[in-house]
Amino acid sequence: MTKKFHELTALDTVSIQLRRGEVLGLIGPNGSGKSTLINTISGVLQPTTGVVRVGDTVISGRPPHRIARAGVARTFQGARIFPALSVEQNIVVASMGVGASRRQAQRRADELIEYFDIETWRRAAADSLPYGHKRIVEVARGLAMNPQFLMLDEPGAGLDENESEELLRRLTALPQERDLGLLIVDHDMPLIMRLCHRIHVLNYGQSIAEGTPAEIRRDPAVLEAYLGRGAEYAYDA
Ligand SMILES: Nc1ncnc2c1ncn2[C@@H]1O[C@H](COP(=O)(O)OP(=O)(O)O)[C@@H](O)[C@H]1O
Ligand SMILES: [Mg+2]
Repeated sequence: MTKKFHELTALDTVSIQLRRGEVLGLIGPNGSGKSTLINTISGVLQPTTGVVRVGDTVISGRPPHRIARAGVARTFQGARIFPALSVEQNIVVASMGVGASRRQAQRRADELIEYFDIETWRRAAADSLPYGHKRIVEVARGLAMNPQFLMLDEPGAGLDENESEELLRRLTALPQERDLGLLIVDHDMPLIMRLCHRIHVLNYGQSIAEGTPAEIRRDPAVLEAYLGRGAEYAYDA
């Protein structure tokens, strides 16, 4: 797809494919179009040209809630949980947002709370949780929509090393265990390199590389545009 904002081409004929059971990383410098890609896939923005398909079904052009119902869920950059609601209520609301009944949503929330082993947070106000826990609740909310595909926009942002490690641990088994395609945007290179099966790299709205973590780590164009730019993004193998 291509996405233009007036003169700015935020995405220039970018094509990605995500399969169930796999983790695709989407990386690149700030402003390279990563969030725009998630926004166009999830229906928050319309592509200027191009389409999004789930199997043979074109889902682009539909409003975000219908795209979520079609099995494509996302989280937002910076938590968007309801601060005053409990962890449990946050998950229930997300599930009801895609059409689940209250009972179904409650069952789903119970299952996810057990899956993520967060029973002790159940009744806590979302806002009272530490940053790293909020990110895990965000992922649980995404899963509450019962998606085939889940897109996470910078879930590791602002996490310390221990929190990042915990996030990695919780995300690693997800795609296989739940037959889920995971698209993850993050600057946390240890997280990305260990979690992803494939990585797609954007720079100024253009795809500059796609490959395995081992390939991407030593790709000259990626080193030039992104990974080689300084310690903050450097990956220490
Ligand atoms: N809604 C918008 N209106 C105008 N320009 C936008 C909008 N969203 C993003 N952009 C621009 O598109 C480019 C890509 O932004 P973004 O997708 O947020 O990058 P990233 O997530 O990779 O940091 C940037 O130049 C940004 O300023
Ligand atoms: Mg972004």
